[in-house]
Amino acid sequence: MSAAVAPRVVIADPLAPRGLELLREQLEVVVSTEPARLPIDLPGAHALVVRSRTQVDAALMDRGAELKLIARAGIGVDNIDVSAASRRNILVINAPLGNVQSTAEHTMALILALARRIVTADASLRSGAWRTGYHGMQLQGTRLGIIGIGKVGRKVAEMAKALGLDVVACDPYVPVEEWLALPARPVDAAELLATSDIVSLHLTLTEETRDLIGSAELAAMKPGSLLINCARGGLVDEDALAQSLQSGHLAGAALDVFQTEPPEGSPLLTAPNVILTPHVAASTREAQERVSTEIAVQVLDFFAGRSVAYPVNCTVKTED
Ligand code: 3PG
Repeated sequence: MSAAVAPRVVIADPLAPRGLELLREQLEVVVSTEPARLPIDLPGAHALVVRSRTQVDAALMDRGAELKLIARAGIGVDNIDVSAASRRNILVINAPLGNVQSTAEHTMALILALARRIVTADASLRSGAWRTGYHGMQLQGTRLGIIGIGKVGRKVAEMAKALGLDVVACDPYVPVEEWLALPARPVDAAELLATSDIVSLHLTLTEETRDLIGSAELAAMKPGSLLINCARGGLVDEDALAQSLQSGHLAGAALDVFQTEPPEGSPLLTAPNVILTPHVAASTREAQERVSTEIAVQVLDFFAGRSVAYPVNCTVKTED
């Protein structure tokens, strides 16, 4: 790459204005948010910026022979074939902090809406009914089980404790000595499933965690309990969840993420007492400004030869 030519960055998913402005100050920016355009715009690009919508597989990387960097403006990198990027010596980075608060707030919104049957009550009133026996669940004193107590899980635990919930969690990656400082009591997965009134998932999607919640785990959950998923759709077997809801074993579920997005044909669309939102937990103005800045600063650092704050595939060799 000639020193005089600004590196070209292709933006494949909507990025908030602040990040775009920072990038435009020093780099050539091509906004390519129309999926059909992306393969056309990638040749000649040195960096690709995505959120969760764009699937960055090996075939897409092949379109960008000069790609050096794939930047995820958000946390999850399950939509990026990181191994394929490493093989091509492409660095993958993410923005793991900027949307934590908003994602935790959305999780709490879903917990509150499900426990108090807000969506059903709204529909009932609009249909002309008035106070027709919609009894909610008071949260104070009920148990919330958090699976995966990373950044978002911790924030949800803090918020839930402030509402008076009894918060337990399981996470095999948290060392014993760290639990004392966490806002949740450690339990094993079996106890969490069997005793929690509400189970909330906060893990990344990997081969290890795919289908973590299937029919056996749902059957092990407390009768009448609720399941919340603002992490990744692939963590939950949607057919098994729909069956559990139909049978009445689970009393409700609230999901922001799906095995396939959008979830066309998912049995959850017709299951009883389900609240579904279209992967918008991180879609606040504040979170999007933060992640766009967090990722733009790193893209600029990378092209200026500085180290980046959040590399995902650290094994990538730097250029000689
Ligand atoms: C994330 O992994 O950061 C969240 O799922 C948000 O995804 P989004 O950037 O596509 O909104």
